[in-house]
Amino acid sequence: MAGPIYELKEVVKTRAGDGYSFRLRVPSLRISPGEKIALIGESGCGKSTLLDMLAFVLQPSGCERFRFNVEGKEHDIARAWKRRRQNRLAALRRRHLGYVMQTGGLLPYLTVRENMELSRRILGMKDDGTVAALARELGLHRHLEKRPGELSTGERQRVAIGRALAHRPSIVIADEPTASVDPFAAERIMAIFIEMVEARNITVIVASHAWRHIKQLGLRRLAHHTRRSRDGSLAETVVSG
Ligand SMILES: Nc1ncnc2c1ncn2[C@@H]1O[C@H](COP(=O)(O)OP(=O)(O)OP(=O)(O)O)[C@@H](O)[C@H]1O
Ligand SMILES: [Mg+2]
Repeated sequence: MAGPIYELKEVVKTRAGDGYSFRLRVPSLRISPGEKIALIGESGCGKSTLLDMLAFVLQPSGCERFRFNVEGKEHDIARAWKRRRQNRLAALRRRHLGYVMQTGGLLPYLTVRENMELSRRILGMKDDGTVAALARELGLHRHLEKRPGELSTGERQRVAIGRALAHRPSIVIADEPTASVDPFAAERIMAIFIEMVEARNITVIVASHAWRHIKQLGLRRLAHHTRRSRDGSLAETVVSG
């Protein structure tokens, strides 16, 4: 069996502001290729913090081990951060990851088609019909020439999903991809999303508030526990899985 795609040991991120301090601790986390992972928890428990570290966007405050294995190559993320290899981390992110942001993160002046093509363009990938096929699957084929401002919220979220998949990444990280639509639409969009990553054998990590309908999609839920001081000024979340 192939080794884990992510391997983390004692990864910590601390964030402090005026009168509060937050700490996310990951004693041990292994994610295998093709796994579907859910991170469910209350607002402020550290979901986006963890996802941003897994996307190499946010530097851990400390880590014993942070390895990323993809296409038969092992990358030492801990060492890359330590040596300030931001360019290398950005290149890994562009090539291997797709990120669906809570707010969609679409560029307002580009059409739906151009937004979805963007990740491929940056990598110099030729148009091979992938974007058109994704648009059909997501029910967006009639909207390809529109701009994001002319779409409904649910349509925008589907464009964000298409954009995250267009360059055929190995991993898709989705931060509450259905946060701003009604529960019925959220359930449908999430089901389409999971079906699409499954069909492509993509590893997926989703943060969401909604465990109820996510559970039916067969995701593995990461265990986490948050402790807060009585006055709320200190909080620590421990995640493992
Ligand atoms: N840039 C930052 N600087 C300082 N503290 C931050 C920063 N971003 C987040 N935090 C704090 O870190 C903690 C975890 O935030 P995070 O965004 O990871 O939570 P979340 O689980 O994604 O919440 P939500 O469900 O609301 O998106 C919070 O207490 C938050 O205030
Ligand atoms: Mg968040």
